[in-house]
This record gives sequence, C-alpha cells and structure tokens, in this order.
Amino acid sequence: MCGIVGYIGQKKATDVCVAGLKRLEYRGYDSAGVAVAGDGKLDVLKVVGKLDRLIDALDESPLDSTCGIGHTRWATHGKPSKTNSHPHLSNDGLIAVVHNGIIENYARLRDELKAEGVEFLSETDTEVIAHLVRKYYEGDLAAAVQRASQDLEGAFALGVVAGDQPDLMVAARRFSPLVIGIGEGENFIASDMGAIRQFTDKVYVIDDDEMAVVKRDGITLSDMDGNPVEREAYVIPWPAEAAQKGGHKHFMHKEIHEQPRAMRECLLGRLSDPNASITLESLNMTADEIKGLRKIVFTACGTAYHAGLVGRFLMEKLARIPSECDLAAELRARNPVVLDNTLAIIVSQSGETADTLVALRELKEKGAKVISVVNVVDSSIARESDGVVYIQAGPEIGVASTKAYTLQILTIALIAAHFADVRGATPEEDLVALREAMLSLPELAQTLLDREDDVKAVAAKYFESPNALYLGRGVNLATAMEGALKLKEISYIHAEGYSAGEMKHGPIALVEPSLVTVAIAVKGDVYEKMIGNIQEIKARSGPVIGVAFDGDTEIPRQADDVIWVPECPELVSPITIAIPLQILAYHIADMKGCHIDQPRNLAKTVTVE
Ligand code: AGP
Repeated sequence: MCGIVGYIGQKKATDVCVAGLKRLEYRGYDSAGVAVAGDGKLDVLKVVGKLDRLIDALDESPLDSTCGIGHTRWATHGKPSKTNSHPHLSNDGLIAVVHNGIIENYARLRDELKAEGVEFLSETDTEVIAHLVRKYYEGDLAAAVQRASQDLEGAFALGVVAGDQPDLMVAARRFSPLVIGIGEGENFIASDMGAIRQFTDKVYVIDDDEMAVVKRDGITLSDMDGNPVEREAYVIPWPAEAAQKGGHKHFMHKEIHEQPRAMRECLLGRLSDPNASITLESLNMTADEIKGLRKIVFTACGTAYHAGLVGRFLMEKLARIPSECDLAAELRARNPVVLDNTLAIIVSQSGETADTLVALRELKEKGAKVISVVNVVDSSIARESDGVVYIQAGPEIGVASTKAYTLQILTIALIAAHFADVRGATPEEDLVALREAMLSLPELAQTLLDREDDVKAVAAKYFESPNALYLGRGVNLATAMEGALKLKEISYIHAEGYSAGEMKHGPIALVEPSLVTVAIAVKGDVYEKMIGNIQEIKARSGPVIGVAFDGDTEIPRQADDVIWVPECPELVSPITIAIPLQILAYHIADMKGCHIDQPRNLAKTVTVE
C-alpha cells in the first residue's frame, strides 16, 4: 500500500506534494520521490528511506514547477531502493507515473515491452505502466492512459505527467483508492482525502475504471472509454489534523477497517478462480520438495504466534503434514530436533522481531528449509528466508496487530491449500470450496465491519469487567487466545485465551459474576462441546458472550449476549471471528480511555530478546 499525490496550480508543486506525502506516510515509508513537469521535460528526485530524506534532497536541489506528482512507497514488488522508488519514467524521460496497487500481469507485460526494445531499470510492477503510457502517447496523455489501462490487470491508482505538457496531469483508478481535490485555480490528486485536506475540503471520489484530466482551471472526469462522468463534489467533514487516520479516531480502528481491501490485495495474483490452483510465486519450493515434506514447524511471537497455531491446524487438516507451532522464545530453549525434509514457516508482521529471527537461524542451522510469512518487504526475516510470501497488508501502525493477523492466516491458508493440492491430500471438491471461501472473505469482512455498532453495544455492557476468559476449541483455540491478547494489550483488563476443553482442569475455579467469558461457539466439529462449556459457566453465574453464526437459535438461549458472524467454512472462521473480537477489544479500551495506538509498556516491533 503506497501513497500518491499530485498538484497543478500556482504554488510550487514539490511543496504541495511533500505536504501531502507527509499525511500519507502511514501508507508507506521505505522510499519516496517526486516528478515535476516544465520546459518540455520532467525533473525527478527519488530517495530511499523516510520522507525527511526527500525533503533534505529538495532543499539541496529544488525543483521549480507548478505541476508535479509525488509518492511514498510501501514495497510490494522489489526491495526498497532508489531505483525501485516512484515516480517511474519512460526510457526517454517524457512520462512519469506514481502508482498504488499491484499489477498482476506485470511480468508478461514486461517481457512484451522488452521484446519491443524497452529497457527496464527497476524490479517493480509499476514500471510497466510508465512504458505502456509512453508506448501509446502521441500527444494526448489521457488517451494514452486509457489505452494503457486496457492492458493492465490488477489494482491501480495512478498519477501521470508528461514533460511536454506542464498544464495537465492525469489520474486513473481500479480497486485502489483515489480522490481529486478541487481548489481555486489549483487542483490535486491523492490516495486519500487526508493528504489534501490541508488545501481543500472539496473532492471528487472517482470510482473503479474512471479517470480524471486535471488542469489548473478545471477537472474532467470520464470512464476508461472516454465517456464523460458527472460526479457531485464531496465535502470532507473532518478537519485537516485528523488526516493520517482518514477520519478514524485511532490507527488501530483504521487498520481494522482496512481489512477487506487488504484481503483483496493479499489474494491478488494468487487466487482469483476457485476452480484454479493457487499461485505463490515467491514460495521458492518445487512440487517435489512439497511432496517430500515430512514435518512443518511454525514459529513466531504474540499475535503472529496465534496465526501460526491456526496455520498448524490448517496444514495438518489440509496437507496432512505433521505440523507443530512453537513460541519463538521457547523453541530455541528446547534445542529442537530437526528431521530431514522439515520446513520452518516463520510468521512476523515486522520481519524484525528478535526472538523470531533467532528461532529462524536456529532452525536453518539445523537443516530446515525456511519460508517466511511477513508484511515488511526485504525485512531481516524475509532476507534470511529461502522463500517469502508477503501478506500485502500495507503498513500497520497501531501497536495492536489487526489486519496483519487476519492476512497472516489468509496467507498461510493459501500455502496450506497449495500444499494440499500439490500433494493430493485433500479432495478437489473440498479445495474448491475452501478457495471459494477465501475469495468471499473480503465481503464477509465488510459485513462484520458493518455490524460494528452491535459489538460496541456489547462492549458497553462489559467494559468495566476486571477479568475476562476467551474460550475456543480446535481451529478457534488460537482465535480465543488472540481475542484475549487484543483485549489485554490495549485495555489492560486481565484476559486469558484458553482451550474450552481445559476448563474442567482448573480455570473453571475462576468463574464468578465478575468474570466475563467470550465463548466461540460457531457451528462445526466442536459446536456441541462449546454449548456444554457455556452451560458449565452459566451454572456458576458467569456472564457469557457467545460468538455464533447468523441464524443460530441455541446460543442466544445459552449465552447472555451474542456476537453474530456470517456463516462460513469452519477452517476460515478464525479470520472472520477475529474481526468482531478486534472491535470488541477496541471499544472496551476506548470506553476506558486507554491510549490505544501506543499502549503502555509495548512497542510495535520488539527487536530485543
Ligand atoms: C500483537 O498485537 C502485538 N503487537 C505483538 O504480540 C506482536 O504480534 C509480536 O510482537 C510479534 O510481532 P511481529 O509479528 O512483528 O513479529
């Protein structure tokens, strides 16, 4: 997930672009760049690192123009580097492009363009766009962008300028967000309203496969066939200072609500048809290696460990490979025995967690093949792995991990389904059903977000509870553990995630009216047993919040409150159930006035052992 801005008007374009990029740094911060149009050519400045590096570079080498585009990058294809940073240029330097999204067919387009004599400088998918626009450019930039978009598959929000046309810029979008800011004698483009709220409160929100020709004195909207589009201007209701959070009160809340989009980006290029096999190009494992696997060891910390627990369950269920999941800090302590043909799967949002990195090295040293499931491209864990599958969540700022968790599970589910397919370990019809379920997750996630107020009402009833117990079984034991971690780390309420089957072996002694229990009781292999656990707790006057599939008639009879989840295959329910549990923890913490994005004693990335 990257941030793009563009400006055309009377001010210095780089001043406006940098101010806008500052508001977009939450979308990506591993490199940045600007391109300005004037005097028949483009001037470009790009840096690796945070935006401050670009500001320093512009102080040293100012770019004078009143028309330009800018970009702050979150690497998805190609490591953070000056060459890979945006804007990307055509070979003759006449066209510059900034892009947010993922071009699924970039490899084929790259080969075709290379065969036509185009020289590629970067490893990115974006660069193909600059060359395609140049290929079709004959003086009409909008027509060239329209034609280029017909060749593109995947997601894009684009800003495009031409060196010989300093009086306009073109913007276009498909699946990635883009707004057109409306000023007086000046206009803007941006990934979101927050980037330009400091300059205007009026924007056009353009839809998929729409574009805009943006000039100083006007904006022309059209579809990708050039048909005019009429659109009411939207007045941004919130003040500029709420910019980076896009109107959300906290980054955590914003990131919870990013999950549908992030899930789509995670699936892009990997799974689009339930009847087709999953493609995981960066796994770096042959079919024979997959067939020869004898053991899988997941290892991680915190939330990522919970994703690993789900992964262990999925891998054994689907691929029928003996699997285990160990806390990274504990794995090393037990001097693990690593058999031949063992695969280590390292899970980490940051890719920099010290305990996890040490565990990776231990397993590698003992002969395991290592793949990692991480968010940050080119992070230490990614670099030290034999294969990497990025979760494509975009930057996660809130200390409490939310979108990274659901995407870690989704990414691991893709790997497990791929292994099951290669090994013939699961009937094809079951794999089709699972792939269908994965493709439906963005929509299910949106449905759950639309129910936020229902969960908030439950939070209002229990936010003063001193203690909480989260119970689950099977694939949702990890869900219970993750729900408890979310609550404890942002609301400071003591919460434990526990196997419901273990209640009778001790924890049931804790049950009393002040202990609220969240019981995950969705229809599936362990449903009846979960009802029994709820009855055990109610018999001892413990309040229970049941988590149930829509339409369940038994759980409302048994529990005091119910959090409803749309029905889905049990194997993907850890992803869907996680969302209302994130919302529950968030609102309880907010009602308690906690510092949600930076909870006490915690850091987003723990780079010490
Ligand atoms: C989760 O909400 C916490 N922030 C923490 O447990 C985190 O998941 C853990 O530190 C692992 O971080 P990583 O995914 O970056 O390796």
